[in-house]
Amino acid sequence: MPLAASLLGLLAPERAHRAAIRALAAYPFSARSDADPRLRIEAFGLNFPNPLGLAAGFDKSAEAVDGLGRLGFGFVEIGTLTPKPQAGNPKPRLFRLKADAAIVNRMGFNNDGYAAAAARLARARRSGRIGINIGPNKDSSDRVADYVAGIAALAPYADYFTINISSPNTPGLRNFHARDEFDALVAAVLAARDRVSPRRPTLVKISPDLDAEQLEDVLAVALARRIDGLIVANTSVGRPQTLVSAAAKEAGGLSGRPIFALSTRLVARCYLRCGDALPIIGVGGVENAETALAKIEAGACLIQIYTGFIYRGPGVVSEILSGLSGELTRRKLSSLRECVGARAEEIAAGAL
Ligand SMILES: Cc1cc2nc3c(=O)[nH]c(=O)nc-3n(C[C@H](O)[C@H](O)[C@H](O)COP(=O)(O)O)c2cc1C
Repeated sequence: MPLAASLLGLLAPERAHRAAIRALAAYPFSARSDADPRLRIEAFGLNFPNPLGLAAGFDKSAEAVDGLGRLGFGFVEIGTLTPKPQAGNPKPRLFRLKADAAIVNRMGFNNDGYAAAAARLARARRSGRIGINIGPNKDSSDRVADYVAGIAALAPYADYFTINISSPNTPGLRNFHARDEFDALVAAVLAARDRVSPRRPTLVKISPDLDAEQLEDVLAVALARRIDGLIVANTSVGRPQTLVSAAAKEAGGLSGRPIFALSTRLVARCYLRCGDALPIIGVGGVENAETALAKIEAGACLIQIYTGFIYRGPGVVSEILSGLSGELTRRKLSSLRECVGARAEEIAAGAL
């Protein structure tokens, strides 16, 4: 489908994004998400038709759930949603670093709020798996309560929840990675999860910019409290020396190819520390079958894509899935599950 892809190339970034959402909301064609049974995967108690999901931030307010569900993704993550609608940061706040195959954004959780998204999700046909990513309002006086309210309000529409503590664009949000703050948040959120029936697996999305000590704090709490899984990782505030685009100097979170190695190594470190106790959705710099497989071999059982989808268009979904299928045939494997974590040691040690 060249429509969204060509729009993306021709328009300014944020207008292109709005145009793509509108086009996708009415997307009439349907790609199969379950064509290869070897790609089906079970994670945190849910069956996914394939391991490739659309990452949070593309359809923040659930405007295009059905169209996105028809692109062949194994799952789509909506959000980040906050309790009240919120305008986000002043524009411009979305920058393409085309020569780097990257994006810098400082959107700041612009979204229509829990109630508007719930109304849209109630009307949607919702054929595929849907994750809902939640966060606090910028001006909230009780950020923990904002997450808890999200679980109560959106549970009927979520297959799983993501607790986003890792956006760099809401001041202070990343402080939730500190041990005591994280423990209090997780305790409250999981209590909310346990009040909902049927149970909604609840994951935490972490930053790729954690040092070893911060990571250990987060993982120790996640294991002790029995979080359902991790999303590794969000955008980075780092700016690798290799970036050539002028927009690299813009403040915000960096995504795409330049964060692939950073976030994939983090997947491997989390996998080696936690094993099967904490299933991982790997995200950051996936752009083709090779990068998707590397995430899985680092230890992710599911993967997500955002920036690669923007640059390569919807065709990237079937390209990645058929590339993974081809690799399983070449290796004579009957399930993708056999690849999960297969190269974790070497990737954690720096291979990539
Ligand atoms: C424009 C933009 C907006 C984003 N908004 C969110 C968001 O609202 N919540 C969230 O958890 N992640 C958000 N992300 C992060 C992505 O979900 C993903 O973690 C990150 O971009 C790394 O993946 P990628 O390299 O495939 O883009 C956003 C990313 C971009 C580029």
